[in-house]
Amino acid sequence: MKTILVTGSNGLLGQKLTDLILAENHFRLVATGRAADRYPAGGEYQYSEMDMLDAKSVRETVTSFQPDVIIHTAAMTNADQCEQDPVAAELANVRAVETLVSICAEFNIQFIFLSTDFVFDGKNGPYTELDVPGPLNVYGHNKLEAEEIIKNSTAKWVIIRTILVYGVIADGSRGTIVSWAKNALEKGEVIRVVNDQWRMPTLAEDLARACLLAVKKDAHGVFHISGNEYLSIWELVIRIADFWKLDKSLIQRISASSLSQPAARPEGTGFILEKAYNELGYRPHTLEEGFALLEQQMLNIKN
Ligand SMILES: NC(=O)c1ccc[n+]([C@@H]2O[C@H](COP(=O)([O-])OP(=O)(O)OC[C@H]3O[C@@H](n4cnc5c(N)ncnc54)[C@H](OP(=O)(O)O)[C@@H]3O)[C@@H](O)[C@H]2O)c1
Repeated sequence: MKTILVTGSNGLLGQKLTDLILAENHFRLVATGRAADRYPAGGEYQYSEMDMLDAKSVRETVTSFQPDVIIHTAAMTNADQCEQDPVAAELANVRAVETLVSICAEFNIQFIFLSTDFVFDGKNGPYTELDVPGPLNVYGHNKLEAEEIIKNSTAKWVIIRTILVYGVIADGSRGTIVSWAKNALEKGEVIRVVNDQWRMPTLAEDLARACLLAVKKDAHGVFHISGNEYLSIWELVIRIADFWKLDKSLIQRISASSLSQPAARPEGTGFILEKAYNELGYRPHTLEEGFALLEQQMLNIKN
């Protein structure tokens, strides 16, 4: 039985990986996070505190658990925070990757890295894996630099780029666009939503499944993983309102230029998913299937 070590297991993708790995029962799981386990799932797995910025702790953890695979989900993921603190962003999003990938090369561990559509400039999406990146912000630059380090290493690597991930995170520590829009509309609040940025939103469970497909297929290379519907953020919020039968008149269309966000965002990203379909057997859920799953999970949390 292969051992998979997951970094960032308290995060959105980390939690979904824990659920999926435990449900499948094909792999031994070592979940790691920078502090205590905030997602104590029922089932057999080990948890270890591991701050990815502490190279000594990373080496000790990896050598003690001897994983066959590391799925590296941990990152500084907020693009605006990265813009405001580029030094911390580089440590988390580049230097920590450098440490991990060199250990993977040394011990012949498959390294699965999570990257982003923000490596592209958003001028001519949807993108294939062969399209030329051109990041617009610090977060995108960090992820691209990490990709280059990985590609130049001798480790067996997979880079999974993804887009606007949504899902239910158990301790509610952070929301995603679905919970943000749903909660505000339920309270009758007017929300301003950009209508000049286009994305292909990704269900967190689909992303977790894609990571495990990469393990099972012993994949190598770059893969684009997202949902298969291309729409503006405003259209996405309309679909959320339709699904939960909320008042769409509260949703105001705005241009991204009217928001003073520290990090510039690409206009239209989106991915061509053929490679993931053909080489991994990846099949994403539709948005409404994703919303239905979230609805069930939200009800379970309430009860
Ligand atoms: N979410 C998206 O829309 C999106 C889009 C494109 C790409 N991605 C990429 O996909 C991956 C997973 O994203 P996500 O949505 O699951 O992110 P997330 O929910 O923000 O989780 C990131 C995790 O990283 C952990 N972390 C941060 N600094 C750490 C450190 N020094 N040592 C150990 N752990 C640390 C955080 O720990 P705490 O919980 O303790 O803070 C958090 O649990 C990331 O690499 C992200 O860049 C995400």
